Amino acid sequence: MYNLVYRSIAKTLNATQINEILNTSRDFNFKHDITGCLIYHDGMFIQYLEGEAEVVLTLFERIKVDKRHHEVKLLSEGNIYSREFDTWSMEFLSDEIPNEAFEYMKLMVGSRGEDEEMYVIPNPTTKKFWLAAKNLLNSLEQRA
Ligand SMILES: Cc1cc2nc3c(=O)[nH]c(=O)nc-3n(C[C@H](O)[C@H](O)[C@H](O)COP(=O)(O)O)c2cc1C
Repeated sequence: MYNLVYRSIAKTLNATQINEILNTSRDFNFKHDITGCLIYHDGMFIQYLEGEAEVVLTLFERIKVDKRHHEVKLLSEGNIYSREFDTWSMEFLSDEIPNEAFEYMKLMVGSRGEDEEMYVIPNPTTKKFWLAAKNLLNSLEQRA
């Protein structure tokens, strides 16, 4: 099992266009045993992908050339023992979700012009960050 995290700058996208990305992703990822989470914040995407290395890397090559974002930068990658997002083909968190916990997530994600060196800990390159995302998503699900 393998995972990677990248950050990119999004083109100006409306809700329909975001939904298109999510629909394609959920469909493909489900069929190819890829799970993960996509965060949209301050015009940036941060995506966590996990699955078989070859499958994830092939997908990442496609994502990198997608015209809906640019400046795709790999933040971390590596082998993992087990999945973080075992039941999620592609979860989604964005600025539009009013939630106090997301305020903390935003702080951890950083802003657009910021270098990774400026990141606070935990940030998207750490397991702790994605565990926080997972907890946030679980709490949103329980409330719904
Ligand atoms: C930010 C972002 C994240 C994406 N994540 C995924 C993903 O997890 N899975 C996926 O199949 N496609 C994802 N896509 C879409 C792919 O880039 C690509 O459009 C899709 O795989 C279809 O590829 P094709 O047009 O070559 O058939 C993402 C696109 C963007 C902009």
